[in-house]
Amino acid sequence: MRPILSTLPGDQVQLMMCPVARALRVRVDPGKIEQAVMNLALNACDAMPTGGVLKIKTCRVEPTNATMGGPRDQPYALLEVADTGCGMDPETRAHIFEPFFTIKPTDKGTGLGLSMVYGIVKQTGGSIEVQSAVGQGTTFRVFLPLAEKAVTSAPSKRAPRILGHVATNSETILLAEDQPSIRQEVRESLEAKGYNVLEAETGTDAFDIAECYPGTIDVLVTDVIMPQLRGFELARRVGQLHSDLSVVFMSGYSEEALVENGLLSEPNVSFIQKPFDPETLVATLRQVLEARRYQISW
Ligand SMILES: Nc1ncnc2c1ncn2[C@@H]1O[C@H](COP(=O)(O)OP(=O)(O)O)[C@@H](O)[C@H]1O
Ligand SMILES: [Mg+2]
Repeated sequence: MRPILSTLPGDQVQLMMCPVARALRVRVDPGKIEQAVMNLALNACDAMPTGGVLKIKTCRVEPTNATMGGPRDQPYALLEVADTGCGMDPETRAHIFEPFFTIKPTDKGTGLGLSMVYGIVKQTGGSIEVQSAVGQGTTFRVFLPLAEKAVTSAPSKRAPRILGHVATNSETILLAEDQPSIRQEVRESLEAKGYNVLEAETGTDAFDIAECYPGTIDVLVTDVIMPQLRGFELARRVGQLHSDLSVVFMSGYSEEALVENGLLSEPNVSFIQKPFDPETLVATLRQVLEARRYQISW
């Protein structure tokens, strides 16, 4: 939801997104949960007319963790939407989930946003809590029960790709890069082209994501030198889990080092030398994806 959320706040509001590194699995209607996040984010922006920070975070909460609040019967996925806005007094807070409750002018508020959020959360077996005080900002916490199994209707890994298929850029990219500025730039340029990007700060996190992601990962875009698990080893391991994987290595080192490793002889593996511009990255990505199509077709 990052692209759409970043269009919400005005210049004065800073959007911070802190997604959990290891993806959590919940059984929800994606459209509805997006609607809930949108409503919470819109309210947060309304509460910060002169600016502030909108922070959206996800994490796993164990039943033993009392600091986070929420139910205690099982582990939950927590979705937190926090703002540094005007906050609410206890009287307002007591009514916010009621349909048609609003303190906004009639052209601005319908009073339906939070009652809708409440309905969506309850429908998925979750719960919602709010913490707020006047002048102290507001934090909404949505707790969703963790699902055990992946939904099986996700496209099968072995689904054949048809040669000449029009590129829709709907592929999923796993991005591993320890430098935050480069990671952000790469993510943004790939998302702008319509790719679904899963990002990780370390090779180990990237491998964890590859292990628990329920869909197909099409391309690994990875730094070569990273602490803990390095790019080559990561590519080898992710390739074992996602068998039609393409790989783009990003490195400040020259291509020759990779050629010596024998890696670049594969058509679905490529290299891009840092620093690079977004166009070069996107072109390299398309090239390894095309190579893969040819391999799998006749
Ligand atoms: N993040 C927030 N900060 C302060 N007040 C909030 C926040 N979110 C909701 N509220 C209060 O809850 C009320 C109901 O919200 P909602 O159901 O979304 O309706 P609406 O936004 O149309 O007023 C708002 O009018 C506002 O008073
Ligand atoms: Mg609202």
